[in-house]
Amino acid sequence: MTVPHVDDVHPAWLPPEAFRAIGARRVLVLADGSPLSGTVRAEVADACARHGGAVAAPGEPYDLVLALASGGSLPPEAAALKGPELGPEGFLLARTGGVTAVLADAPAGLLYGFFAVVRLGEAAFEGERPAETHRPALERRMLDHWDNIDVHPVMGQVERGYSGGSIFWRDGVLHEDLTRVRAYARLLAATGVNAVAVNNVNVHAPEARLLTDRLDEVAALAAEFRPYGIRVHLSVNFASPIALGGLETADPADERVRAWWARTTERVYAAIPDFGGYVVKADSEGQPGPFAYGRDHADGANMLADALAPHGGVVHWRAFVYNHRQDWRDRSTDRARAAYDHFAPLDGRFRDNAIVQVKYGPIDFQTREPVSPVIAAMPDTRLAVELQVTQEYTGQQRHVCYLAPMWSEVLGFRFWGEGEPAVAEVIKSGGLVAVSNVGDDRYWTGHPLAQANLYAFGRLAWDPGLDPVAILDEWIGLTFVPGDDEGGERLRATLHGMMDGSWRTYERYTAPLGVGFMVRPGHHYGPDVDGYEYTPWGTYHFADRDGVGVDRTRATGTGYTGQYPKPWSEVYESLAECPDELLLFFHHVPYGHVLHSGVTVIQHIYDTHFAGAEEAAEIRALWAKLEGDGLVDPALHARVRELLDEQVRSAEEWRDQINSYFYRKSGVPDARGRTIY
Ligand code: GCU
Repeated sequence: MTVPHVDDVHPAWLPPEAFRAIGARRVLVLADGSPLSGTVRAEVADACARHGGAVAAPGEPYDLVLALASGGSLPPEAAALKGPELGPEGFLLARTGGVTAVLADAPAGLLYGFFAVVRLGEAAFEGERPAETHRPALERRMLDHWDNIDVHPVMGQVERGYSGGSIFWRDGVLHEDLTRVRAYARLLAATGVNAVAVNNVNVHAPEARLLTDRLDEVAALAAEFRPYGIRVHLSVNFASPIALGGLETADPADERVRAWWARTTERVYAAIPDFGGYVVKADSEGQPGPFAYGRDHADGANMLADALAPHGGVVHWRAFVYNHRQDWRDRSTDRARAAYDHFAPLDGRFRDNAIVQVKYGPIDFQTREPVSPVIAAMPDTRLAVELQVTQEYTGQQRHVCYLAPMWSEVLGFRFWGEGEPAVAEVIKSGGLVAVSNVGDDRYWTGHPLAQANLYAFGRLAWDPGLDPVAILDEWIGLTFVPGDDEGGERLRATLHGMMDGSWRTYERYTAPLGVGFMVRPGHHYGPDVDGYEYTPWGTYHFADRDGVGVDRTRATGTGYTGQYPKPWSEVYESLAECPDELLLFFHHVPYGHVLHSGVTVIQHIYDTHFAGAEEAAEIRALWAKLEGDGLVDPALHARVRELLDEQVRSAEEWRDQINSYFYRKSGVPDARGRTIY
């Protein structure tokens, strides 16, 4: 195993400098002959070769020891730590008597422990550190790529990708040199991610064949991910038995269909013994599924679960199922209700290795949504929550929008009230999944600052209790390696100033009070208040001259509030109690309705849109002050500067369209007399 370094690609949060503290020291590795242990040795050797330290042989002095608990004769520092069960990925970290020690039960834990020391840097080698036990809170921490093999005429190569082409495929074939995939695996491992699905959930004809005659491409990718402890998963097409197997049906109850999946899956495992499993989008937005045969989602998922079970694989079955051919005139159908209506009745019917994957909100990755009630409704099902790191609805990596504060709110949400389990506890055995924001762009994520979202996703999946600002600080430290001097402080302060509150800033200048959408149909960038209002997609705001919002109450609306347990079913139902930021998601109110904040809905719309656009300009001004002072690479500075110009332009466009729209609808002037068109 050699540590991947790719020329001409930004090193993200693993620049060589980030390894100085380890690389300048004497490091002893006591591990086994497994590939993951080999990776730890290679990482240590790479860091030491670069920074003047040394790999210690047994018997030689050392400053850092990385040891497997099972590894025979442990040195005293490590032996003293032996005790609690650490599990397959956990590790123990301590420092005593001038030696820093990482102890793990299994090689993956050693690798995660190694990266924990990287994150700490010099602090890992200072003073004494009482033993800390680290274990991932969630079993599976997964990124889904929406990569296509071919360039799709509308969606491009990566569906909802804003960072160039795929790092896996180019022009219909696998990249010849996969070093970049390994470098990606390394970046992910450093955050704690342990699973990747390599292709789009909308599985077109070429990608469907990854399961069969193009399986060698998946095996080649798995070989790049494996050294960093990441298992590869594949999105499959439910109709594969027809398209690839020559059968006339894909009915999950048909023995021939079941046998086809069993045989096909066996071949997958023969090629990729540690294959993770399948991801399925079925009966959703035109994808085939079990409904065609009068079966339900449990029937479909269980068929694939049965094929995977003998090999230890799992199926991620997505709950993103709704009617995308709705009649906008029909006020009784509510897209927000759909996932719960389809899935909650199936609780208890899914196999142990079937994971129902639920988007965090009931609609579709909006800037603000209530947490999906499906997560509370299936206690006898393994559930995973799906987030979107790719910024489809949050600025498409042209806007600075640090999403960890939103994810942290979702993971910490308590459906049953204070003192009851949070979302992160509900999904312990299912896991956290996110749509990746990575492409073949030089900065990986298009916008260099969007790297922070990828980093934060992994860190929150490992420990949902982490503070988003602290995660950002960690990311800044690794990525920019700011010094302890005035310049370093200024750089840190600038990035926090730009990013800490950037999700709320984005929220302020886009769709108000949780109503969602108002984006241009199709590409979903920029404002178009009525863009989806008279379409079949089920995403409406119902603004008229008197008011705005969707009545989802039980009393007078769609009844969606009834999908929540108490206390939220009552809080959301009540106009008086509903939190301001979700008011228009749950209620249709007159423009003069007074919010908890004390202002009317219409004045809130004006105020937040003026404020949001101003904040975007402030973010740009902060960045401009860094120009030419040598604290960040000039090319990176220039890329961000250009993107900030677009963010400011776009924020002003949002401000003016939203404000003008609501002014024209309501006829209510801005109390502060600002310009509205
Ligand atoms: C959104 C997105 C689609 C995607 C879908 C999904 O609707 O716009 O491109 O396919 O989510 O999550 O399946």
